[in-house]
Amino acid sequence: MSNTIVVGAQWGDEGKGKIVDYLTENTDVVVRAAGGNNAGHTVISGGTKYILHLIPSGILWKGKVCVIGNGVVMDPLGLLDEMAKLRSQGISITPENLLISETAHLVMPYHKVLDKAREIQRGDKKIGTTGRGIGPAYADKVERDGLRTILMTQPEILEEELRDRLARHNKFFADNSVELVPVEETVQKVLDAAKILAPHITNTTVYLHEAIKAGKNLLFEGAQGTYLDIDHGTYPFVTSSNTTAGGACTGSGVPPRMIDKVVAVGKAYTTRVGSGPFVTENEAIGDMLHNMGREFGATTGRARRCGWLDAVLVRYAVMLNGADELAITNLDGLDGLEEIQICTAYKLRGKIIHYPPSTSADLAACEPVYESHKGWKQDLSGITKFSDLPDLAKAYLKRLEELVGAPVSLLGVGPAREQTLVA
Ligand code: GDP
Ligand code: IMO
Ligand code: MG
Repeated sequence: MSNTIVVGAQWGDEGKGKIVDYLTENTDVVVRAAGGNNAGHTVISGGTKYILHLIPSGILWKGKVCVIGNGVVMDPLGLLDEMAKLRSQGISITPENLLISETAHLVMPYHKVLDKAREIQRGDKKIGTTGRGIGPAYADKVERDGLRTILMTQPEILEEELRDRLARHNKFFADNSVELVPVEETVQKVLDAAKILAPHITNTTVYLHEAIKAGKNLLFEGAQGTYLDIDHGTYPFVTSSNTTAGGACTGSGVPPRMIDKVVAVGKAYTTRVGSGPFVTENEAIGDMLHNMGREFGATTGRARRCGWLDAVLVRYAVMLNGADELAITNLDGLDGLEEIQICTAYKLRGKIIHYPPSTSADLAACEPVYESHKGWKQDLSGITKFSDLPDLAKAYLKRLEELVGAPVSLLGVGPAREQTLVA
């Protein structure tokens, strides 16, 4: 028995979906414990591209159980769309292979309206959210005004509570000249969704503990990344949940002492979508990757901001998450470069620092200290064995291991399942 947490070491989109898909082969249960359909995890298997938002990537494997844990905020209408899309791609989703926690919170249409309205209100200080209502849904949870998924098994109470929330929100929207949420249509849609989703809703904490007792292996599929964590990220340019390793425990009810391993996933360079400081941001790298058709968001289609690998961020992420191993993806993205930079430290007001500062203002004021590496100038996408990598690529990874304090265990040289090398 072994329980593993997979987390993102940067600002999300590190390739967690692909790594989770790879690790699922030796797993029984795949669990999402935080975030919502702000996530977009791309997996390419058997030549088909799948994009997962709320459903754990494990659903692509036959015979695996997927759990949406209590820490997730779940948009039932978004989930139905996602289920329909995956089914149209031949994936089987049943109440046996997709379990939803009774205590996960619902994202409702008024949360999306609030999300968008607050972004407009922030003006040039906007966060650049995905517009999926994530922040307002978590705010309602913490404010104790949320609706939990168990209500989907109690339609009469759900209707009453939903009408109450819609009335209150619409009053607030009317007072602030925001477009109202249509009441009857929303109630009907949510009640219809409840009927379909109710058979999936259960006490997933009990399920997970029983699975552990029965000797099953659990894999926690992180969403977002370390620097989008509400506590540890580049606040306020973060999401509204704990995306770091501890969130897997609070978001599932599986205690820390039952976790055996943490794998941090990072790209061989850095990307970020949305606003906020980005010390190693580099337009030329962004242009190169975008011209290759890469680095467009899986959820919103936005072009991702790109830059050099930032070992300061990954070092702190390794520490914070207690990462035993690193999975480095997209090494092939650097194939064409003569010279590759790694940021080894920051210079802040004349002082060299080795961990990111705690405020976004200070992070924005940091200058990168770079170390230059010679590029391997070779197409890595067809390589199937780690030992066949060019020496210069091996040297780049070795140096990364030294700088961040964790060994590379998995390496991505392309988006497909088979393009994952074991180090
Ligand atoms: P996630 O949110 O962490 O699951 O990552 P995303 O799926 O949003 O973004 C990662 C992108 O990189 C996707 O388009 C993946 O298909 C792609 N990807 C993952 N690993 C590799 C890799 O090793 N090489 C290449 N070329 N693409 C990769
Ligand atoms: P995956 O799981 C990258 C970013 C948004 C925005 C900020 C807040 O695919 O790695 P939110 O909608 O959560 O309130 O937006 O967080 N963000 C992500 N960026 N990958 C993600 O998920 C993200 N989920 C949220 O772009 O900057
Ligand atoms: Mg993503």
